[in-house]
Amino acid sequence: MQIVKTIAEVRRLVSTVRQEGKRIGFVPTMGALHNGHVSLMKTARKQCDYVVVSIFVNPTQFGPSEDFEKYPRNLDSDAITCRKTGVDLVFAPSVKDMYPRENWTWVEVENLTKSLCGAHRPGHFRGVTTVCTKLFNIVDSDMAFFGQKDAQQAIVIRRMMADLHLPLEIVICPTVRESDGLAVSSRNQYLKPTERKDASLLYHALTICEDLARKGENRVKVLIAAMQQVLGRSVAIEPEYIQIVDLDTLEPLETIDRPALVALAARLGTTRLIDNIILDLNVSSGDV
Ligand code: PAF
Repeated sequence: MQIVKTIAEVRRLVSTVRQEGKRIGFVPTMGALHNGHVSLMKTARKQCDYVVVSIFVNPTQFGPSEDFEKYPRNLDSDAITCRKTGVDLVFAPSVKDMYPRENWTWVEVENLTKSLCGAHRPGHFRGVTTVCTKLFNIVDSDMAFFGQKDAQQAIVIRRMMADLHLPLEIVICPTVRESDGLAVSSRNQYLKPTERKDASLLYHALTICEDLARKGENRVKVLIAAMQQVLGRSVAIEPEYIQIVDLDTLEPLETIDRPALVALAARLGTTRLIDNIILDLNVSSGDV
């Protein structure tokens, strides 16, 4: 496995591999790699001949009062994880490499970025879509792999690819969970032990919603009230939003009459966590 820091170097290596006719898979990350990332890398490994992982904590997707400075960074242990998982190339650029001058060009997906996390993190998705466009241009892969845990991000990226006619195939992989259901996330490590215990209620709320819906309850107000009740069992949990939206447009639903995204965000102390399930009453699983 090679670790490179410059754009020129990653371009050179990838173009050599491309000339050999290999299928290139790309997993963009901000590091602090966990089992969720490992599962993306393993899926990329199965579907591609050459796997590139980027590790870059992207400043433009953090708001001024967010955790950019304290976001966990450990390239050495991330490199070990990548090596063990069979990654071929790690691209770990600096902020100066990715943003060599004041950035005047932004990629912004409208409408889909206004609700859910977008309503609470202004500018976040503009930062994500801009850095992903840069990374896709640099890495030049055939496929890129994202996690369902960041459902809105995945939907926004897919729309960006379609609107801009970008040729890359986007693969969305299922959320990886701890044994109590908590979605794995780089931010889980911020949780104090009692917060960590209560954090499992987030997924519990989503499963209650799914159970009720599968038993025939399709009124969104009733389902949201049931989820609020579950989260209310912990005083440590401050919900930011709990919403049920159309899976394609992310517009709020009143009844579940089509495939829906059930999404929530909550704060536990200073840590903000998100989770979601897809509710398609015509199929049996909640996580696709
Ligand atoms: O999901 C993430 O880790 C980031 O948003 C991404 C896609 C790597 C862009 O910085």
